[in-house]
Amino acid sequence: CNRTIWLYAHHLPSSFLLAEPSSVQAAEFGHLPDNLTVLEGESIILRCKIDEEVTHKAWLNRSNILFAGTDKWSLDSRVSLVNSNDSDFSIQIERVAVTDEGPYTCSFQARNQPRIAHVYLIVQVPARIVNISQDKSVNEGDDVNLFCLAVGRPEPTITWKDFRYGRIYEGEFLDITDIKRHQAEEFECITNNGVAPPDTRRVKVTVNYPPVITDVKNMPAQLGKTAILRCEAMAVPTAVFEWYRDDRRPVESDNTLKIKNEKTRSLLLFTNVTEKHFGNYTCFASNRLGASNASMLLLRPGAVYGGGAPLSPCVSGLGLWLGLCVSILMKV
Ligand SMILES: *[C@@H]1O[C@H](CO)[C@@H](O)[C@H](O)[C@H]1NC(C)=O
Ligand SMILES: *[C@@H]1O[C@H](CO)[C@@H](O)[C@H](O)[C@H]1NC(C)=O
Ligand SMILES: *[C@@H]1O[C@H](CO)[C@@H](O)[C@H](O)[C@H]1NC(C)=O
Ligand SMILES: *[C@@H]1O[C@H](CO)[C@@H](O)[C@H](O)[C@H]1NC(C)=O
Ligand SMILES: *[C@@H]1O[C@H](CO)[C@@H](O)[C@H](O)[C@H]1NC(C)=O
Ligand SMILES: *[C@@H]1O[C@H](CO)[C@@H](O)[C@H](O)[C@H]1NC(C)=O
Ligand SMILES: *[C@@H]1O[C@H](CO)[C@@H](O)[C@H](O)[C@H]1NC(C)=O
Repeated sequence: CNRTIWLYAHHLPSSFLLAEPSSVQAAEFGHLPDNLTVLEGESIILRCKIDEEVTHKAWLNRSNILFAGTDKWSLDSRVSLVNSNDSDFSIQIERVAVTDEGPYTCSFQARNQPRIAHVYLIVQVPARIVNISQDKSVNEGDDVNLFCLAVGRPEPTITWKDFRYGRIYEGEFLDITDIKRHQAEEFECITNNGVAPPDTRRVKVTVNYPPVITDVKNMPAQLGKTAILRCEAMAVPTAVFEWYRDDRRPVESDNTLKIKNEKTRSLLLFTNVTEKHFGNYTCFASNRLGASNASMLLLRPGAVYGGGAPLSPCVSGLGLWLGLCVSILMKV
């Protein structure tokens, strides 16, 4: 897409001097040279409109002559003459590069007086993320350092956004010390310089921690009926479950008992409860960061616990469940 700028050079005073162009121009128009903004990679036409008889004319990039009349001085193949007649003297720059940014001058002589007009070419580059942290998997308590590098003209802003809490952090680095499991989430880097829509990329941070068994209940069961014992554990990576009977005998599946492992829990499915099923089951959840266990009872109908009977269905170390266990026992 071509862009065009018209320079109305004929208004300039005859006292114009090439030696001090910007101050003279500023004095004449009361502002700095016009800025012409173009995106990197686009083509642009610089037009110089003349309406008096001209003897010499030239286009300059800074102090280098690009065209003197129709003679090309520039060696750059991207620069070409678009038009040259008595009223219009225009050049085109193709595939504008960042290094093209700067002042361009149309200079000519009319009635033996030098005249000039300027345009300041500003080359913009959309903000773009050029490098960013890889997705990370860390252990709880580790420090996490994320980076996001971006380029663009004008200089883009870089911010980090955390998805869960919507917080915004300024800058290309995001440091989290002593990361906690609830901080595991996606972080988004956003870079913007107003030239094009912001560029965004995400980094996922996984926080690993050992299993924590969250839900354990004693279950009353009836002979000949079905029953389920559940063991729920939160863990990253997900836990592997094992079941044991009181003497740490592994529980084995058979035609009346199935072990069903799911992502965050394991189930003991009794399809036909018999006498031998009643008792104490220990669920053992582990991953590479650690392990945790909890015990629960499959309760005989009408069982009364007291005296010599086992009175500790409430798992050692899981005092949390004590109230619950006790209330279950009271109902029995
Ligand atoms: C041209 O851009 C410069 C900064 O890049 C700015 O200071 C100046 O005011 C601009 N001039 C005009 C006429 O917009
Ligand atoms: C100069 O060229 C422009 C664009 O082609 C045209 O519009 C204009 O009439 C020409 N002027 C003269 C004096 O030939
Ligand atoms: C303008 O001049 C700069 C600095 O010398 C150069 O890098 C750039 O390629 C030139 N651009 C054009 C279109 O001549
Ligand atoms: C991105 O940054 C990393 C870490 O600084 C570096 O190892 C890698 O080479 C960079 N990649 C690119 C494409 O620059
Ligand atoms: C459950 O097991 C008992 C004893 O083995 C058997 O008599 C009964 O038919 C079984 N019930 C079901 C529904 O399979
Ligand atoms: C169940 O077994 C576990 C592990 O062997 C033990 O710590 C717990 O006291 C037992 N509970 C009852 C009620 O016997
Ligand atoms: C089961 O958990 C308790 C703490 O709740 C711990 O003392 C015990 O060593 C664990 N048992 C096994 C076999 O890991």
